[in-house]
Amino acid sequence: EVPAGPDYSVTFTPLGNKIVADTVTVPQGYVAEILYSAGDQCVIGSVGYSGLPQVHPATELQAGSQHDGMHYFAIPGVDPNKRGLLAINHENLDSKILGFTGGKYSAATATDVEKKTALSTVGVSVIEVERDASGKWSVKPSAYNKRYSGNTEYKVSGPAAAVVGASVIGTLNNCASGPTPWGTYLTCEESTDNYLDPTQAEEGYGWVVEIDPLNQMGTPTKRTAMGRFDHENTAYMLDDANRVAFYMGDDGTPGCIYKFVPRKAYDPANRAANFGLLDDGTLYVARFNGDGTGNWIELTQGKNGLVAGATDPGNFTQLATGTVISGTLVDFNTQADVLIKTKAAARVAGGTLMDRPEWITVGGDKTIYCTLTNNSSRKRTDAANPRTSNRHGHIVRWTETGNSPLATTFNWSLLLLAGDPSIAAANEKGNIVGHTFSSPDGIRVDPQNRLWVQTDAGTGSSTTSIFGNNSMYYVDQATGESKRFLVGPVGCEITGIGYTPDLTAFFINIQHPEGAWSTTAGWPARSATVVVRRTDGKPVGA
Ligand code: FEO
Ligand code: CA
Ligand code: CA
Ligand code: CA
Repeated sequence: EVPAGPDYSVTFTPLGNKIVADTVTVPQGYVAEILYSAGDQCVIGSVGYSGLPQVHPATELQAGSQHDGMHYFAIPGVDPNKRGLLAINHENLDSKILGFTGGKYSAATATDVEKKTALSTVGVSVIEVERDASGKWSVKPSAYNKRYSGNTEYKVSGPAAAVVGASVIGTLNNCASGPTPWGTYLTCEESTDNYLDPTQAEEGYGWVVEIDPLNQMGTPTKRTAMGRFDHENTAYMLDDANRVAFYMGDDGTPGCIYKFVPRKAYDPANRAANFGLLDDGTLYVARFNGDGTGNWIELTQGKNGLVAGATDPGNFTQLATGTVISGTLVDFNTQADVLIKTKAAARVAGGTLMDRPEWITVGGDKTIYCTLTNNSSRKRTDAANPRTSNRHGHIVRWTETGNSPLATTFNWSLLLLAGDPSIAAANEKGNIVGHTFSSPDGIRVDPQNRLWVQTDAGTGSSTTSIFGNNSMYYVDQATGESKRFLVGPVGCEITGIGYTPDLTAFFINIQHPEGAWSTTAGWPARSATVVVRRTDGKPVGA
């Protein structure tokens, strides 16, 4: 519901085309200020990055690297427009500030300290942030400040725990994320193996991990009932009876779109009663039919072909039309088999192979959006993935039948095909109205029902000469018209969207900037969370 108050209609003056400046560019009347960079102090008593290569154990208490998905949480009893908690994912390494032999991490030759250093810089930061009287935000030394890393121990729960084990060391490739209605943080592992420490058994990764920023839930927990794949983010829809669905993309080339429906309703009156909700429920994969309808196919052992001796067709959309699909035999004897081999289960059950599903978001009118970032090696098309060699990606949207999170059918359409009319190749022009872009990744409908899109396109000159540096756009949900709101520095992707409830502060992540290696000649080459706000203190975008 949209509370009464200021007018949130979008009025910012959009930025121009092809901006390649090595800084964060924002519209007139806005500022972008660095809040929390890789290597900064996190846990009380830690020492921040000083210009010298950082190593474990100091790194275990500092900001991790490659900031990605993020969510802003209220602290009970505190005005959330002035102070709150940010949970921030760290996807990979900011190698330039870390002490690796030759400046780069190699799992094959790493010393024990190098391995610990690498693993300490992925995972999650929780930080308390505060606004001062002038409107500027800073990180507060706080008992809430915490790191969860590739060296931390995680509990494993749900139907696959019997196979995976009761606990796993490490979370990594923490890509995007999402909140739950009960105020916990779901950090998503976008890799099904521990590439930083290959000695760890691979069933331990590729899960959704639940973390409580308020520290009431206990040990962070890998929720196996939600499936194992290259998880991008989670987004939930709640109905009037407090039944909930969590939507999830598999950023595989190609990958499917999923939803998980807990068996029990969310209990708004008893926070702790919800801490096991993600262990018991039904996982579905989406099939996008050619006539604009869709089906949610249940991924339960014994149903929809998920039995012993099933034939997995593999990623057949990457094979030329006419090539024989040989398939591979896969056994689904238990639900643990289905959850550990979720990608194969989804293909066997008839899920649609999409062009790399990235973020999903649920709008105010319950329209659900998913970015399909690109898939340049697609060779067979379908209605929901209509372009071969899809270099620039597209955005699909759907509505559940009856707008119910429990629906098993839906209706879908394409919001837009990314690209630019100046490109010679017909299948790369796209149909964006307004400011064009490539490779949509982050997407979020904010509480005032405004749709924001962030890009993660290649950062070579062949891309930046058409689109400029990676950027963030406002997209009109009715017309598809796009307006460029923010442009990142050289080499970065733009990702992560957090905001205060009054929307006067937006938290945005600058991931892997690669420009100047100093604080004076361009953007500092460290991943960072920035705060974007208006100098007049009014809501962002309006
Ligand atoms: Fe880590 Fe799919 O982006
Ligand atoms: Ca990334
Ligand atoms: Ca992403
Ligand atoms: Ca991406």
